[in-house]
Amino acid sequence: MVKEDYKNLGFECRETNANYISYFKDGKWDEGKLKDTDCITISAFSPALHYGQEAFEGLKAYRRSDGSIQMFRPTENAKRLRRSCERMLMPLVPEEKFIDACEQVIKANMDLIPPYGSGATLYLRPFIIGVGRNLGVKPAKEYLFSVICSPVGSYFKGGLAPNKFLITDFDRAAPNGTGDSKVGGNYAASLWPHQVALDKGYADCIYLDPLTHTKIDEVGAANFFGITRDNKFITPKSSSILPSITKYSLMYLAKEKLNLEIIEGEVFVDKLDIFAEAGACGTAAVISPIGRIDVGNKQHVFYSETEVGPITRKLYDLLMGIQFGDIEAPEGWIHIVK
Ligand code: PLP
Ligand code: COI
Repeated sequence: MVKEDYKNLGFECRETNANYISYFKDGKWDEGKLKDTDCITISAFSPALHYGQEAFEGLKAYRRSDGSIQMFRPTENAKRLRRSCERMLMPLVPEEKFIDACEQVIKANMDLIPPYGSGATLYLRPFIIGVGRNLGVKPAKEYLFSVICSPVGSYFKGGLAPNKFLITDFDRAAPNGTGDSKVGGNYAASLWPHQVALDKGYADCIYLDPLTHTKIDEVGAANFFGITRDNKFITPKSSSILPSITKYSLMYLAKEKLNLEIIEGEVFVDKLDIFAEAGACGTAAVISPIGRIDVGNKQHVFYSETEVGPITRKLYDLLMGIQFGDIEAPEGWIHIVK
């Protein structure tokens, strides 16, 4: 692909050279190996297929200006996978195995990692599934851990262009459910509301807290943040949202580099006018400015429906600068692939 094509890359899968795969049997993981296919053979009785016993992660490999490759906070993804595995009664993937698998996949797909300056990256999708013959609702005895990948560009259309989002009555997770784990069931529940939003011309839907439906929880597959008129960075604190590594990174950068006050708390949907700017953040989404939120017959416009606000832009430039190696990162955030 030429550099220009990478600028138009969306969030789709492309063919790659190799993927990593490892099996857990008789209480232990095997060595794991690279395979030149993304097809796997598992029993049709596998509990991952019927009961959703699975968990996944998403992180990216970034090409730096000198051509070398780095990952952004991969140990945080390894830790979150661990928490998801605990929740799903699955064996833990040791942190070293997780990082080694990502590195093997990156090295095997080096020629597919988009060029520096294109804004595109190699998206890595580690996942673990419960496999084997199992009919009752109970955890599997055997597991498969794999890392697949694809070169990707923007998740939301237009990259840093503002998008509009719809608040619906649907929930993706229950108050004491699995919303804070990265597991397939949450995403299965989100397919219908996502489609409703797309059909009505929105980029995605925004979920309210499932208990009271009065507070913002999440933006589809990304976390929400707002910047108030008096320079506070406010983001929802909720047990039903995924703890976003990007969000926690932005909270640090907003405080340390932009001197904003940070609040993880309640974001009432009838008090959106405290915000001058708002955005969705995540590995795939990076930062996508929220131009407008519609709820019922009310429309709430933030900074602008067409232009990104100044603080959102500063946060985006800082985050991308760090992720692509142009800005010095806080200690431990960057993992160079050697
Ligand atoms: N919320 C959901 C539901 C997600 O799927 C993601 C993506 O991983 C995020 C938030 C953002 O999390 P992170 O910044 O760790 O990618
Ligand atoms: C990510 O941002 O890595 C995600 O996992 C979002 C994805 C579900 C599209």
